[in-house]
Amino acid sequence: MRIDIITVVPDLLESPFQASIMQRSIAKELVEVHLHNLRDYTSNSYKQVDDYQFGGGAGMVMMIEPIDKCISALKAERDYDEIIYMTPDGETLNQGIANQISTLENIIILCGHYKGVDQRVRDHFITREISIGDYVLSGGELGALILCDAVIRLIPGVLGNETSALTDSFQDNLLAPPIYTRPAEYNGWKVPEVLTSGNTPKIEEWREDKAYEHTQQRRPDLLKE
Ligand code: ADE
Repeated sequence: MRIDIITVVPDLLESPFQASIMQRSIAKELVEVHLHNLRDYTSNSYKQVDDYQFGGGAGMVMMIEPIDKCISALKAERDYDEIIYMTPDGETLNQGIANQISTLENIIILCGHYKGVDQRVRDHFITREISIGDYVLSGGELGALILCDAVIRLIPGVLGNETSALTDSFQDNLLAPPIYTRPAEYNGWKVPEVLTSGNTPKIEEWREDKAYEHTQQRRPDLLKE
């Protein structure tokens, strides 16, 4: 999968791709991430990418021209499956959306800044708008990172153990059951006996029951979906 991210603050995005699972996915050549500084696409000598809004009002608006130039340059090189705009008024990211996006070949993610982008960008270039939750961030970059992390870990071969993403919370609309590791007893606190019994069908049954119970307690809305 190739991910092109358009941003005015590429520095904010660099280090998360140089650590942990996202770094490993790039090292294994399962994912390519390219960061594009929007200021490199301005014709303006001040490298200005934003301007006042028509009609007045507080907050600057990201101009269409540099965004058009950047997206058009990318589209001239390859076809894109989605051009995603990170925005608080997009559809809220969930596991289903991450699963869908993880099957794509090439995507562009545009990070908004200031008040947002000129509406014509959304009308003519963007194919999908995603929010990471009902709160407003200073820009779309942190949202883009969250989207990338959620998507990249689902790409086959990225996680060492293929099954491990399939047993994540929210796959099957269930939260994950409790997990334990050694020692089997600590401070007198014991691991549930079934987990050390070696009885795989019983362990599976226990995990399913606990996942259901946990979801019922914390997120009963998921069980209704
Ligand atoms: N940009 C600003 N707020 C955002 C949010 N909640 N989700 C995605 N992008 C954003």
